[in-house]
Amino acid sequence: MTTLESSNKSRPATGDRPPFDVVRIRADFPALDQTVHGKPLAYLDNAASAQKPQAALDAEAECYRRFYSNVHRGVHYLSEKATDAYEEARRKVQRFVNAAREEEMVFVRGTTEGINLVASTYGKQHVGAGDEVLITTMEHHSNIVPWQLLCEEKGARLVVAPINERGEVIVEEYEKLLSERTRIVAVTHVSNALGTINPVAEMIGMAHARGVPVLIDGAQAVPHLEVDVQELGCDFYAFSSHKLFGPTGVGALYGRLDLFADMPPYQGGGEMIRSVTFEKTEFSPPPARFEAGTPDIAGAIGMGAAIDYLQALDMNAVAAHEHDLLDYATRALEAVPEVRIIGTAANKASVISFVIGDVHAHDVGTILDREGVAVRAGHHCAQPVMDRFGVPATTRASFALYNTREEVDRLVAGVERVKELFG
Ligand code: ALA
Repeated sequence: MTTLESSNKSRPATGDRPPFDVVRIRADFPALDQTVHGKPLAYLDNAASAQKPQAALDAEAECYRRFYSNVHRGVHYLSEKATDAYEEARRKVQRFVNAAREEEMVFVRGTTEGINLVASTYGKQHVGAGDEVLITTMEHHSNIVPWQLLCEEKGARLVVAPINERGEVIVEEYEKLLSERTRIVAVTHVSNALGTINPVAEMIGMAHARGVPVLIDGAQAVPHLEVDVQELGCDFYAFSSHKLFGPTGVGALYGRLDLFADMPPYQGGGEMIRSVTFEKTEFSPPPARFEAGTPDIAGAIGMGAAIDYLQALDMNAVAAHEHDLLDYATRALEAVPEVRIIGTAANKASVISFVIGDVHAHDVGTILDREGVAVRAGHHCAQPVMDRFGVPATTRASFALYNTREEVDRLVAGVERVKELFG
């Protein structure tokens, strides 16, 4: 896994942070301390959704307990307090990805809504008949279907850059597919099904050389890598709170302010307007233009607290720990006959997808569950990836900062158990 030196100025200097201590970190996550089917829980399904530190749970509960009210609407004390906390959460999200301005961060329901927002606004504005949208084979359905819907509506073409046997984008092919008709590129930073970390800075550079903007699906990247949208140079970057150890139902979309400023609204409703008459509505500037209706106020505040929690850690130490788990699990699973690892990119984040002979992934997942080991089994909302590798589904273990080698040992013991049962 890549470890990136911090370019995010909001984080404390490495020397000011406590050394990485997985035992101490685990104690911050109450959900980890339980048994499942009589066995201690080994939670290895973090790419689907991560557990929450007490600090994020407390921040959300505190909002509801002490200063809950609607935002941007009231002149009373609670509304002002909730508005301040909500807008402070926006600044936390902004600093987290090093966006230049807070107006460049829109709160959304999650990565999926962020991508749909861009497809439905920027996409509808700029993609026409005969134009092309370029994605890759390894995209999650949420970075395929919104573009497919747009292309169908507009008579445009969805163009797909291929991946190789290791599960890496073939960058030369990607570059060749950037054509005069390409209107936007949408690519994942880290693949949810394979763990591949894409060379997004290079891919963005290639697109920009042809004047094509780039959206990055950052859902699987932000829990593991330091992301600096200015350094990457991306035009849009979408991510979710729930994979980032924050509450479910909220996420953020970064967009370059000059692009946001020209984009039409995504949804109509309260708060996104400057004035309304039956003849004509004037819209608010971003970010309010894209936040119609009452937002997930407490969720955004909880997301901000999860970001504070992560930023107090040394992300290079976190990345090194997760890389160790990935290497350890890869070596152990490779040694098990009949296990085939799907996704062997040189540059990977903490996801390991595999199949065991012809045992169905759901059977593997069920047997592991009986051992207290939580993994995801299925196509991971990335059916084209499964097709590329000729498998219907995989079992996927995905690691987070709180996982341990002992949990990996239990995963491998569970895999051995599957083999005994299906001998
Ligand atoms: N996108 C999530 C996953 O990969 C749900 O599991």
